[in-house]
Amino acid sequence: MAKITFVTRDNEHITLEASSGSLMKLATQNGIKGIEGECGGVCSCATCHVHVPEEHSAKTGEASEIEKDLLELSDNVQDNSRLCCQVQITEELDGLVVHVAN
Ligand code: FES
Repeated sequence: MAKITFVTRDNEHITLEASSGSLMKLATQNGIKGIEGECGGVCSCATCHVHVPEEHSAKTGEASEIEKDLLELSDNVQDNSRLCCQVQITEELDGLVVHVAN
């Protein structure tokens, strides 16, 4: 199990536990505000945009080229932006904190 904390735009900190699936699914199944997952996780809507603090970026790895292309069209993009449907939950993500960007 990995504990993952979502920080909403209202600065709510919500910690959830999971062992598989994507961060987007975890967020939408638990009603995290600002994560919509409209495309179902196929990297075509950007409604799952999060910012990953630098100290956690090694856990989530690099965005793919397709993900980067979609992020370029999104609001509030930063160097640490990720589309959380593209981040799969593993034990290595334990302790991860992500900030909802939308
Ligand atoms: S859910 Fe659509 S890009 Fe992530």
